[in-house]
Amino acid sequence: MDFSTFNAYLFCFIILAITTLLYLLKTITKNSHHQQGSLRLPPGPPRVPIFGNLLQLGPLPHRDLASFCRKYGPLVYLRLGSVDAITTDDPEIIREILLKQDDIFASRPKTVAAIHLAYGCGDVALAPLGSHWKRMRRICMEHLLSTKRLESFANHRVDEANHLVRDVWKRINVSKLVNLREVLGAFSMNNVTRMLLGKQYFGAGSAGPEEAMEFMNITHELFWLLGLIYLGDYLPIWRWIDPFGCEKRMRDVEKRVDEFHKKIIEEHRKVRKDQDGNEKGEMDFVDILLSLPGEDGKEHMDDVEIKALIQDMIAAATDTSAVTNEWAMAEVIKHPHVLRKVQEEIDEVVGPHRMVTESDLPHLTYLRCVIRETFRMHPAGPFLIPHESTGPTTINGYHIPGGTRVFINTHGLGRNHRIWDNVEEFRPERHLALAAGSGAGGRVEISHGADFKILPFSAGKRKCPGAPLGVAFVVTALARLFHCFDWGPPNEGIDTEEVYGMTMPKARPLVAVATPRLAAHMYHSV
Ligand code: HEM
Repeated sequence: MDFSTFNAYLFCFIILAITTLLYLLKTITKNSHHQQGSLRLPPGPPRVPIFGNLLQLGPLPHRDLASFCRKYGPLVYLRLGSVDAITTDDPEIIREILLKQDDIFASRPKTVAAIHLAYGCGDVALAPLGSHWKRMRRICMEHLLSTKRLESFANHRVDEANHLVRDVWKRINVSKLVNLREVLGAFSMNNVTRMLLGKQYFGAGSAGPEEAMEFMNITHELFWLLGLIYLGDYLPIWRWIDPFGCEKRMRDVEKRVDEFHKKIIEEHRKVRKDQDGNEKGEMDFVDILLSLPGEDGKEHMDDVEIKALIQDMIAAATDTSAVTNEWAMAEVIKHPHVLRKVQEEIDEVVGPHRMVTESDLPHLTYLRCVIRETFRMHPAGPFLIPHESTGPTTINGYHIPGGTRVFINTHGLGRNHRIWDNVEEFRPERHLALAAGSGAGGRVEISHGADFKILPFSAGKRKCPGAPLGVAFVVTALARLFHCFDWGPPNEGIDTEEVYGMTMPKARPLVAVATPRLAAHMYHSV
């Protein structure tokens, strides 16, 4: 090492030491301030200087936070580096946060990943509460997710349900073992890209295997980065060092995703130009966005707003439904008596001579209980997307500082011993009482309901605006797969190990043995 390099190292070390000291002082001052007088924070695990509770989080943080709730009570305070945080797995506290104090808790933290990967939090899902979020959410609700728009996409959904059956049928003519992650991922992705971009990514009318694979890979990497607990969000000095190159990776994905979206917008603009003002028969979401006026009297929306929305809708809609379907299939195949009951019900409602249609879905009571049970044990994400408080408040007499990050542990909620018995047992029957007591003509609702004991789509201002569509993707895919095929585990059995992320998939892709159960002509005619 030469002298100048040594000096440079020394300089960095001194700066780091001074910053750490200043930071430590700030943390101590802030902590003692919170503990003063009436400012009593909720209980929580002991914290160490600088890191707070960060070092107590392992690779499955939802399980760590659930264990804190078991030890310290339903509302737990954590200090994550420089950030105040609370966590809960309790229905009453969740109701307090999402409904009673919705106005205070409906914002989002501006994380480094959200800034890089959601166009500076310019989307819906990761945008802080405010007029921009309101406007973007309204655009999605009116132009993509309204009942009328969803009805207009019904034919696409039928095509994709048929394509799903054909896909499995073709695969089992080659090998009885079917990789359900691939099949279900393509089903969700195709449904979404058809609505958004007007094209299928996997299958006969597809965008081509290379584009599809590139698209899938970027989407997966994006999810991974968004789900990461990045230390730079909690210890700002970490960002200087970034020892694992996370931010570099974020910038790289940001660039690749942006190229992709640029191309999509250019293609759509070109088609519009070629049509020279003549209305296109069917407009996809990008066409609609290109036709909408912008903010403050602008003739059009900004490209960056359009890209943020495309990105959001793809991210929010594909992985959530694919992950849920994979877990449901895994649990049902693991429990053959559940599979038999699901199939008996579908045979009774649909019979062997036609395919399941969307109008059958409300009548598949037991299957809907299977899906509720899947959401209890394996919610699409282990936490809701983190919320953030916009000002100080109190919950159960405890002080919650402004800017507190809120981790609502949906995984912990579904396995909370205080509200569920035999939490590790997959038992759809526990939801059947809902059908009997339901005001919806016996239909089992796949939502949180009044008791907040499951929370698949959240509640309040930030609740999932795509819930009806998400339910349609999930019930349709499962009903078709259970109706058309018998399923069994592979030789090595089926594991239910999960991996943490923004969504929480099985650690290993689900592979299962499929056998047709309808007459051969049924598969040829879809
Ligand atoms: C089974 C499928 C789905 C599940 C389980 C699911 C679940 C969720 C959950 C738990 C949230 C977080 C709510 C919160 O933070 O409080 C959310 C937010 C969101 N979801 Fe979904 N979702 C699904 C499908 C969809 C679909 C199909 C779309 C749209 C096409 C969609 C769009 C969104 C958006 C835009 C948000 C952010 C809302 C906001 O922050 O204002 N989701 N979803």
